[in-house]
Amino acid sequence: MDMNSANIEEIVKQVLAGMSGNASAAASAPAASGSIPKTAHVAMLTALEHYDIKEFPIPEVGDDDILVKVEGCGVCGTDAHEFKRDPFGLIPVALGHEGTGEIVKMGKNVKKDSAGKDVKVGDKVVTCMIFRDDPDITMFDMNKQNVGAADVYGLLPDDDVHLNGWFSDYIFIRKGSTFFNVSDLDLKSRILIEPCAVLIHAVERAKTTGILRFNSRVVVQGCGPIGLICIAVLRTMGIENIVAVDGNAQRLEFAKKMGADKSVNFMEHKGIDALAAAVKDTFDGHLADFAFQCTGSPVAHANIYHFIRNGGGLCELGFFINGGDATINPHFDLCSKEINLVGSWVYTLRDYATTFDFLKRAKAIGLPMDELITHTYPLEEINEAHQTNLAQKGLKIAIINK
Ligand SMILES: NC(=O)c1ccc[n+]([C@@H]2O[C@H](COP(=O)([O-])OP(=O)(O)OC[C@H]3O[C@@H](n4cnc5c(N)ncnc54)[C@H](O)[C@@H]3O)[C@@H](O)[C@H]2O)c1
Ligand SMILES: [Zn+2]
Repeated sequence: MDMNSANIEEIVKQVLAGMSGNASAAASAPAASGSIPKTAHVAMLTALEHYDIKEFPIPEVGDDDILVKVEGCGVCGTDAHEFKRDPFGLIPVALGHEGTGEIVKMGKNVKKDSAGKDVKVGDKVVTCMIFRDDPDITMFDMNKQNVGAADVYGLLPDDDVHLNGWFSDYIFIRKGSTFFNVSDLDLKSRILIEPCAVLIHAVERAKTTGILRFNSRVVVQGCGPIGLICIAVLRTMGIENIVAVDGNAQRLEFAKKMGADKSVNFMEHKGIDALAAAVKDTFDGHLADFAFQCTGSPVAHANIYHFIRNGGGLCELGFFINGGDATINPHFDLCSKEINLVGSWVYTLRDYATTFDFLKRAKAIGLPMDELITHTYPLEEINEAHQTNLAQKGLKIAIINK
């Protein structure tokens, strides 16, 4: 990708506009309370592979509550697991955690979001976590405990409020929830915040090794949404020497649009030695300084050590859930090569806030973030949306409300 051809003046203007708040978004008119309906529509997963659109009364908004009119919500891998198998035993459940919408009513005690930014009716928001038992956790706590005892809208057990997930037309945000005013981001960016936060966190973890530098040679293995966003995050940091590895030619092409310099299709190379040689070739005879493992495949985990130089680094983030055991040789792969290995899982609240700026920077340098959302469906077609997701027809599937 030719970054030099970008119009620098335009980029600066866009970034500044983003920092000071997008005028048109900020000017959106507050919804008159008269226009709030008495009932909300919630897509409840009532059986495996089956949502029903249920109608529930909208509760009275208390002093600490926020009522949000939902604009859209991404379909996540976790939603796919719930849809197919209900591993968390939540059915009936209002799913959808990658959602965003507009505040239409809020209690008098709600003044600022979780980053301390003012909020008002008409602002666009996303939710993050609901802390169960540690009120001392703060925005700037880098400690990993802050993903511990937390709940998330879209993965809550059903209760008498019912408006607990973002696959709906209204969601009811209660006291103790973390939420952010993201009025300066467009709808698709807002829908991408949650998966992007995963990569902001992974790159923060990678940076703790001290190996990631502007001129580092970096492998990103796996070009699903997670790997593609990983490339985008690296690119916005100014890292240019990125090689994408996947078996899907179309995804590898997209990886280049996202900022990968070169790609290697593992289907074209038989055996790990040939594959490692191909990766080395793309780096002009060098192995990678750092690698990100973005697949859920144990074989891919074992392979990736072969792409990394002695003393290099690896961030393993592909196993959000247990995908089985991987076989590596601790002597050859890890110990004698002195590999700096970090794991990365989910994100912290701080990463969430960093993500908002990342999304602005990605747009400003022309990365096609919007194209990650390949399919959109209205709420009534949520079953079809999930089937499309299960069939792995696109990248990110999203529900966009009419
Ligand atoms: N760390 C976290 O908190 C976190 C959060 C979300 C997702 N994840 C994990 O990240 C992984 C990727 O997510 P996604 O949504 O992009 O998934 P995805 O299934 O869309 O993409 C995975 C990609 O890996 C490729 N791949 C499979 N085997 C490979 C191999 N041996 N070598 C190279 N490429 C290979 C596939 O072709 C596919 O393009 C998932 O396993 C998910 O569980 C982790
Ligand atoms: Zn998710």
